[in-house]
Amino acid sequence: TRGSSLIPPMEEFNTEEKRANPFPILKTLRETTPLRYNETYGTWDAFLYEDCHRILKDPKTFSSSFNRDNRNVENIISVDPPRHQEFRELVNGVFTPKAVADMAPRIREILGFLLDAVKDQGRMNTVYDVAAPLPVMVIAELLGVPVTDRLYFKELSDTLVTGVEDASEETYQRVLAKRNHARETLTDYFRHHLNLRKEQPTEDLVSHLWYANAEKQVLNEEQILMFLTTLLIAGHETTTNLITAMVRVLTEHPELQERLLAEPELIPGFVEETLRYYPSVPKLMRRATTDVEIRGQVIKQDELVNVWMASANRDAAKFANPDQFDPTRQPNAHITFGFGNHFCLGAPLARLEGQIALEVIVNTLCNLALVEGAKIEPTPYPLFTAVKEYPVTFEKRA
Ligand code: HEM
Repeated sequence: TRGSSLIPPMEEFNTEEKRANPFPILKTLRETTPLRYNETYGTWDAFLYEDCHRILKDPKTFSSSFNRDNRNVENIISVDPPRHQEFRELVNGVFTPKAVADMAPRIREILGFLLDAVKDQGRMNTVYDVAAPLPVMVIAELLGVPVTDRLYFKELSDTLVTGVEDASEETYQRVLAKRNHARETLTDYFRHHLNLRKEQPTEDLVSHLWYANAEKQVLNEEQILMFLTTLLIAGHETTTNLITAMVRVLTEHPELQERLLAEPELIPGFVEETLRYYPSVPKLMRRATTDVEIRGQVIKQDELVNVWMASANRDAAKFANPDQFDPTRQPNAHITFGFGNHFCLGAPLARLEGQIALEVIVNTLCNLALVEGAKIEPTPYPLFTAVKEYPVTFEKRA
């Protein structure tokens, strides 16, 4: 059977125009078919906050273990409790808010360097110049692999998160082959770096994972390599999409640029609201482990369910004025980082990168505006709630 991450976009999102602005379509789906069975792919779609939350909260009934990409190495993202806990325990403490806070000066320094390269030019390509390099430089430094390999990672990571645009067997085989090749390339890359660390451990994450596991012996070497690959990839596009989305919001609500400068205490709320409003990851998937009834319909054992965070985050039953961007929204229980046992391990790091990026941008640049006539294209399916590039003009702050 087909790996679930290689299922094409559903009918509602069959054109780039529709993917570019999925929110009105998702609103209609919440109102008309809040939980529905998609005959074409044999999968379910959950659009309401209540249902998405319930599904993510209950790994016993809704498992993360299913055929994702025709691969069979156990991975943190695709194992259920209690095995899942063993994966998390290996990196306990590494990504806590307190542990990542130590990285703030270095993140600030990288941003200073990225903005120095563009601030006198009056314009930048948000993704290429800032939003893409920052997360990959940060995670490469944490892992302890050369930052100079970052364009190479970027290409492999782009390949690994590419979905299929249509249902043809030809597209499927082509994308699958490219993805498998990218994964093998990254695995070999980490095998090389892991071998170096076995001889000479350092303070980095490659060493940490190897030695933490040596004590507990919960993963084999292939699983460690897969874990390292996941860590490299997981924060890439997602954090890039967050930073790009924040610049987008700054241009859509220009008054917020001066306001954030005057009231920096709004920055964390602005980051949370961007996560809710333009989520980097539009949906997750789960497999029913048993027949389960929701809203009078029965999801049968082994059927797959799409959990639509991009829809849940704008559900009026949970968020007042959901289509309004409000950096003071309190509470803001978006589920962009997921929910429950698989809640994003890197969330504290992503939040910190987002907060510092926003602070440095509003302190360095002003009058940010989308380049006139720029065409805003969505990122390829399945991460389509983000944009490929967001070129802006600006002035340098005195
Ligand atoms: C898990 C989103 C940044 C590492 C997840 C999940 C989501 C998510 C939705 C849950 C997956 C599931 O339940 O199946 C995001 C977003 C980010 C971001 C929106 C940025 C804005 C990062 C960063 C890292 C990271 C920077 C780097 C360390 C992980 C890992 C998991 C994960 C390792 C798997 C956790 C587990 O399965 O227990 N992320 N992520 N993420 N994320 Fe992130």
